[in-house]
Amino acid sequence: MKIAILPGDGIGPEITKQAVNVLKALNLGAELVEAPIGGAGYEKHGDPLPDSTLNLAVKSDAVLLGAVGDWKYDTLPREKRPERGLLRIRKELNLFANLRPAILYPELVGASTLKADIVSNLDIMIVRELTGDIYFGQPRGIQTNESGEREGINTMRYSESEIRQIAHVAFQIAMKRSKRLCSVDKANVLETTELWRQIMIEISKEYPKIELTHMYVDNAAMQLIKNPKQFDVMVTGNIFGDILSDEASMLTGSIGMLPSASLDSNNKGMYEPSHGSAPDIAGKDIANPLATILSLAMMFRYTFNDEKHANKIESAVKKTLSLGYRTADIFSPGDKQVTCSEMGEAVIASLN
Ligand code: IPM
Ligand code: MG
Repeated sequence: MKIAILPGDGIGPEITKQAVNVLKALNLGAELVEAPIGGAGYEKHGDPLPDSTLNLAVKSDAVLLGAVGDWKYDTLPREKRPERGLLRIRKELNLFANLRPAILYPELVGASTLKADIVSNLDIMIVRELTGDIYFGQPRGIQTNESGEREGINTMRYSESEIRQIAHVAFQIAMKRSKRLCSVDKANVLETTELWRQIMIEISKEYPKIELTHMYVDNAAMQLIKNPKQFDVMVTGNIFGDILSDEASMLTGSIGMLPSASLDSNNKGMYEPSHGSAPDIAGKDIANPLATILSLAMMFRYTFNDEKHANKIESAVKKTLSLGYRTADIFSPGDKQVTCSEMGEAVIASLN
């Protein structure tokens, strides 16, 4: 097992460190190699995705990533900004399938901003396409038009094959769960997603046991707040998935709880928390490392096909929560408030 560790920026290094400690505590002899990405890559090599980092990621079996971004880089040219490093590594490794589970742990039902009966036992899997759509479509840019006015351009674009490959991933995940799949689009307005819907219907013929439904993205955003438990597996494009997965995370109490897996067609993967780099709290040792630790569990499940260690990590997280340990983002009076590193230690103590 060779694992690339890319801590990144902001709280990235501190949360990654806790996940690495959990990995080391499992004593599996994994080879861990660290490299800079995002702002850290720019500082060290003048590039948010240095060649050495990309090469390491290509040669590794899996990648564990913290987070990228900091306001201080917002004035750099776009190709030097941290986010571009993240988008490029996703594209270069062909990580087209982004799995973002939104699970509410019973202990955190009070941390959600929604009423307990709306969110209790929530368990949704959002399957987000990650290497296409308006994130990558050409043409793009800011240009001056004939009347001398500047205009911004991005292009929402999906080919049939791109839609097919994410559809298969989503249908296969639905097969292992409740066999219900909701495809989210904006087929009433956008041709790109009209094609998306057609392909989803076409692929559904290969999965006769799955009940496929369709929902417009605006309605899906509303339904996630109104009655989130109607959903089991959702599949959608890159931009809608970006937005809906942040929304879904709040149902679970904190975005600090949401792991993710980004997979290629051979289940090689990059694992990262769904949240950002939170520069405002960086270096204070107060961030929640659980999303990163849970991302490690996903690495065992999806890349190493090792359900045993995935479950072991997830059970340790559940036990830690049931013992009352909470970082600031999920704290309510009566809980034991802990730092980022104390939370990591508590998970390790709960491993056995
Ligand atoms: C995410 C993030 C990224 C995205 C940013 C940091 C580029 O929001 O992983 O959801 O938009 O995909
Ligand atoms: Mg996002």
